[in-house]
Amino acid sequence: MSADIAVSHPILENCGGLPFVVEARPEAAGVPLTELLDWITNSSPWREEQLHRAGAVLFRGFSSVRTAEDFSAVAQRMAPVILDYAGGTTPRSAVTGKIVTSTDAPRHVVIGLHQEMSYLAPSPEFPDPTPDKVMFFCETAPGGGGQTPIADMRAVYKKLPRKLIDRFEQRGGLVLHRKLPTQKKYGFEVTWETAFGTSDRAAMENIARSKGWSMQWAKDGGLEVTHGPSPVTKSHRVTGEHVWFNQAHLLHKSVAPWTSQWLGPALPQRLKARLLEPFIRDRFYYHSTHVDGSEIALSDLDSIRRTIAQETVMFDWQRGDVLLIDNKLVSHGRQPYSPPRKIFAALLADASRN
Ligand SMILES: [Fe+2]
Repeated sequence: MSADIAVSHPILENCGGLPFVVEARPEAAGVPLTELLDWITNSSPWREEQLHRAGAVLFRGFSSVRTAEDFSAVAQRMAPVILDYAGGTTPRSAVTGKIVTSTDAPRHVVIGLHQEMSYLAPSPEFPDPTPDKVMFFCETAPGGGGQTPIADMRAVYKKLPRKLIDRFEQRGGLVLHRKLPTQKKYGFEVTWETAFGTSDRAAMENIARSKGWSMQWAKDGGLEVTHGPSPVTKSHRVTGEHVWFNQAHLLHKSVAPWTSQWLGPALPQRLKARLLEPFIRDRFYYHSTHVDGSEIALSDLDSIRRTIAQETVMFDWQRGDVLLIDNKLVSHGRQPYSPPRKIFAALLADASRN
């Protein structure tokens, strides 16, 4: 243990060592924020080592971390760069600075496990455009449920059938096709303004150009964006370990809004979502294909979902918890919840992307 204000223990009940827990010693629970920030800076090599070993570290019991501003200060000590959220697939709101809500998706919706922005394509300018770290902060604990499930994607890679991995990799990667409406017409849609943080078409075109995305305006005013080719797997920059690294199992028409529970979990709501399909299908979708445009086998997507589910662990949020996740090693999602629940997020990079 590198510092004297916290104790570490590897196991939360039923979580098998993930996340690794760093808990305030009782006598240090009230340590002032400035002192805590210094500790975070000074223990950086030890923390990175634990993060790369376990994949996620949970900081618990520090009473000086209570607000979004406190969390922002903590995040700034965890990595040199806090990234903008532009380009994500879930609706979010700004909280303070670059701190955002974890997701504004309706509370009954299950967000499947994913590594943040793993669909973004590498380029010579940005060989790795995806965040190195994702952080979450519990400002208000859920009334019930609302966990942030996590899964070790090294284990998923090892457990997936080799033939499945080969089938994906031999086709050279994945492409994500997205269509986002200008106006939110149905409750579950994400507009391009929400996704990219601008309502200005020229600004949107600049974002796409600077990120190397191909895009076009559809006749109905919506935005069509294509990301890719993006990798199927990745080797961790520091540890060299292989991970499954894509979101084809989530960003696919087989789990599109009209087939899921975006209007609500009850049967009438699911039936209504089905009835709306003809009006939604061309306005709002995510769909992943192989690079050559060929469809991904649904049985492969099922196999991926099953394997991730087998590796998923969950813990209950407590007020003041800070969860640091290595975005390559560990995926995250969200469980349905009863209010209240305020979980904030930050995306971090270990080096400047400019
Ligand atoms: Fe996420």
